[in-house]
This record gives sequence, structure tokens and C-alpha cells, in this order.
Amino acid sequence: MKSITAVTFLALCLTVAVTASSKSYYGKTKPANLTDEKVTRVRFYLHDILSGQNPSAVRIAHANLTGRADSPVGFGSLFAIDDPLTVGPEKDSKEIGNGRGMYVSGSKDINKFTIVMYADLAFTEGKFNGSSISVFSRNPVAEEAGEREIAIVGGRGKFRMARGFVKIKTHQIDMKTGDAVLRYDATVYHY
Ligand SMILES: *[C@@H]1O[C@H](CO)[C@@H](O)[C@H](O)[C@H]1NC(C)=O
Ligand SMILES: *[C@@H]1O[C@H](CO)[C@@H](O)[C@H](O)[C@H]1NC(C)=O
Ligand SMILES: *[C@@H]1O[C@H](CO)[C@@H](O)[C@H](O)[C@H]1NC(C)=O
Repeated sequence: MKSITAVTFLALCLTVAVTASSKSYYGKTKPANLTDEKVTRVRFYLHDILSGQNPSAVRIAHANLTGRADSPVGFGSLFAIDDPLTVGPEKDSKEIGNGRGMYVSGSKDINKFTIVMYADLAFTEGKFNGSSISVFSRNPVAEEAGEREIAIVGGRGKFRMARGFVKIKTHQIDMKTGDAVLRYDATVYHY
């Protein structure tokens, strides 16, 4: 009974507050300048390093599956990343940004190893310094026949409101450690 009274009181207060204010919470809806959309292609290499003293990808959680605890990339494993982005594929190539976020091993079929990525790829050099692209996508790592594709769903700075896609090609992978260098060819539509 007490809680009902409280709720009624709150509702009453809100009604008063809303009617007392002449300002609405929304602005005028105007046509957007969709014709201002531009497209930029960006190519860089992402270094996803799990091994050694200074890894850029670390496992932060995993499922307790019988007999699978030894597999670092088993279904349900979650990784945090702070992967360097470079101009070329070499380890000492000029760094132009970083990919931060996480990915989860998302396939129960061990023959179709898939990760799902939630990452912000930010640039720290050149024209797009301070801007970033947001990736939220399945990344079918095992589909090595040609390139695979992930989705760009947003961005910051010059890439505000971005959408697009990235074609990914594995440049180099160490099957034992999982260390990989990947070529990212991004097509970014933005304003
Ligand atoms: C669209 O572009 C015009 C001219 O550049 C500008 O005046 C207007 O404010 C823009 N509208 C929006 C919604 O950004
Ligand atoms: C994890 O799995 C092992 C082996 O099956 C089992 O002994 C252990 O109790 C499980 N731990 C949890 C927290 O479920
Ligand atoms: C990138 O932007 C940051 C922040 O504005 C600035 O401190 C840095 O000097 C810039 N780097 C380059 C290479 O322009």
C-alpha cells in the first residue's frame, strides 16, 4: 500500500513538472543532409598478440567446459584487446592507431572458429588523428577462402555517423600462440 502511494505521489510530481515547463525535450525535426555523405578508404594492419610478456590481447573470461579448459580460444572465451594498428605488416612498422575493445569466441563448432568483435579502432596520426571507427560484428576467422568481412556501425570525430565494412585478410598467424597480423581494408561512409 505504501509503495503504491509513493508511486502515485511520484507520478503526480512528474505531471506537475511536465505541465509546469513549456519546453519540450525534443527539437525540431529537419531533413538531414544525406548528400553530404563521403567515402574514405583506409588500409592498415592490426597486430593481435596473445603471447609473451606484453600481449595486446588477454583472455578475461572463459566457460568452464569439461575437457576444453586447455583451449585458449574455446567457445565462450572473452578477450580484451589493445591492438596496435600500423601502416605496414612488420612489427616495427609506423604505428597509426589502436584497436580497443573485446572479442568473444562465438562458435560451438570448433571447425568454424568465429569471433564476435566489439571494438573501437582509433587513429592517432595524420588526417584522421582523434577519429575512430566502431566495429560490431561477427568475424568468421576460419573462413580463409579469400577475404572475410566485418561491419562498421559507427564512428567518432571525422568518422562520426560512419557505416561501412572492412575486408580482412590474415597476413600472418602463429597457430600455436594465436598471434596474428591482419590486414584491414576499410571502406568508410561518413559525413
Ligand atoms: C544542411 O546543409 C545546409 C547548407 O550547408 C545547412 O545550412 C543546414 O543547416 C544543414 N542541415 C542540417 C540538418 O545539418
Ligand atoms: C569446472 O569444471 C571442472 C571439471 O569439469 C569441475 O571439476 C569444476 O567443479 C567446475 N567449476 C565450476 C565453478 O563449475
Ligand atoms: C594527434 O592528436 C592529439 C590530440 O589532439 C595530439 O596531441 C597529437 O599531437 C596528434 N598527433 C599527431 C601526429 O598529429
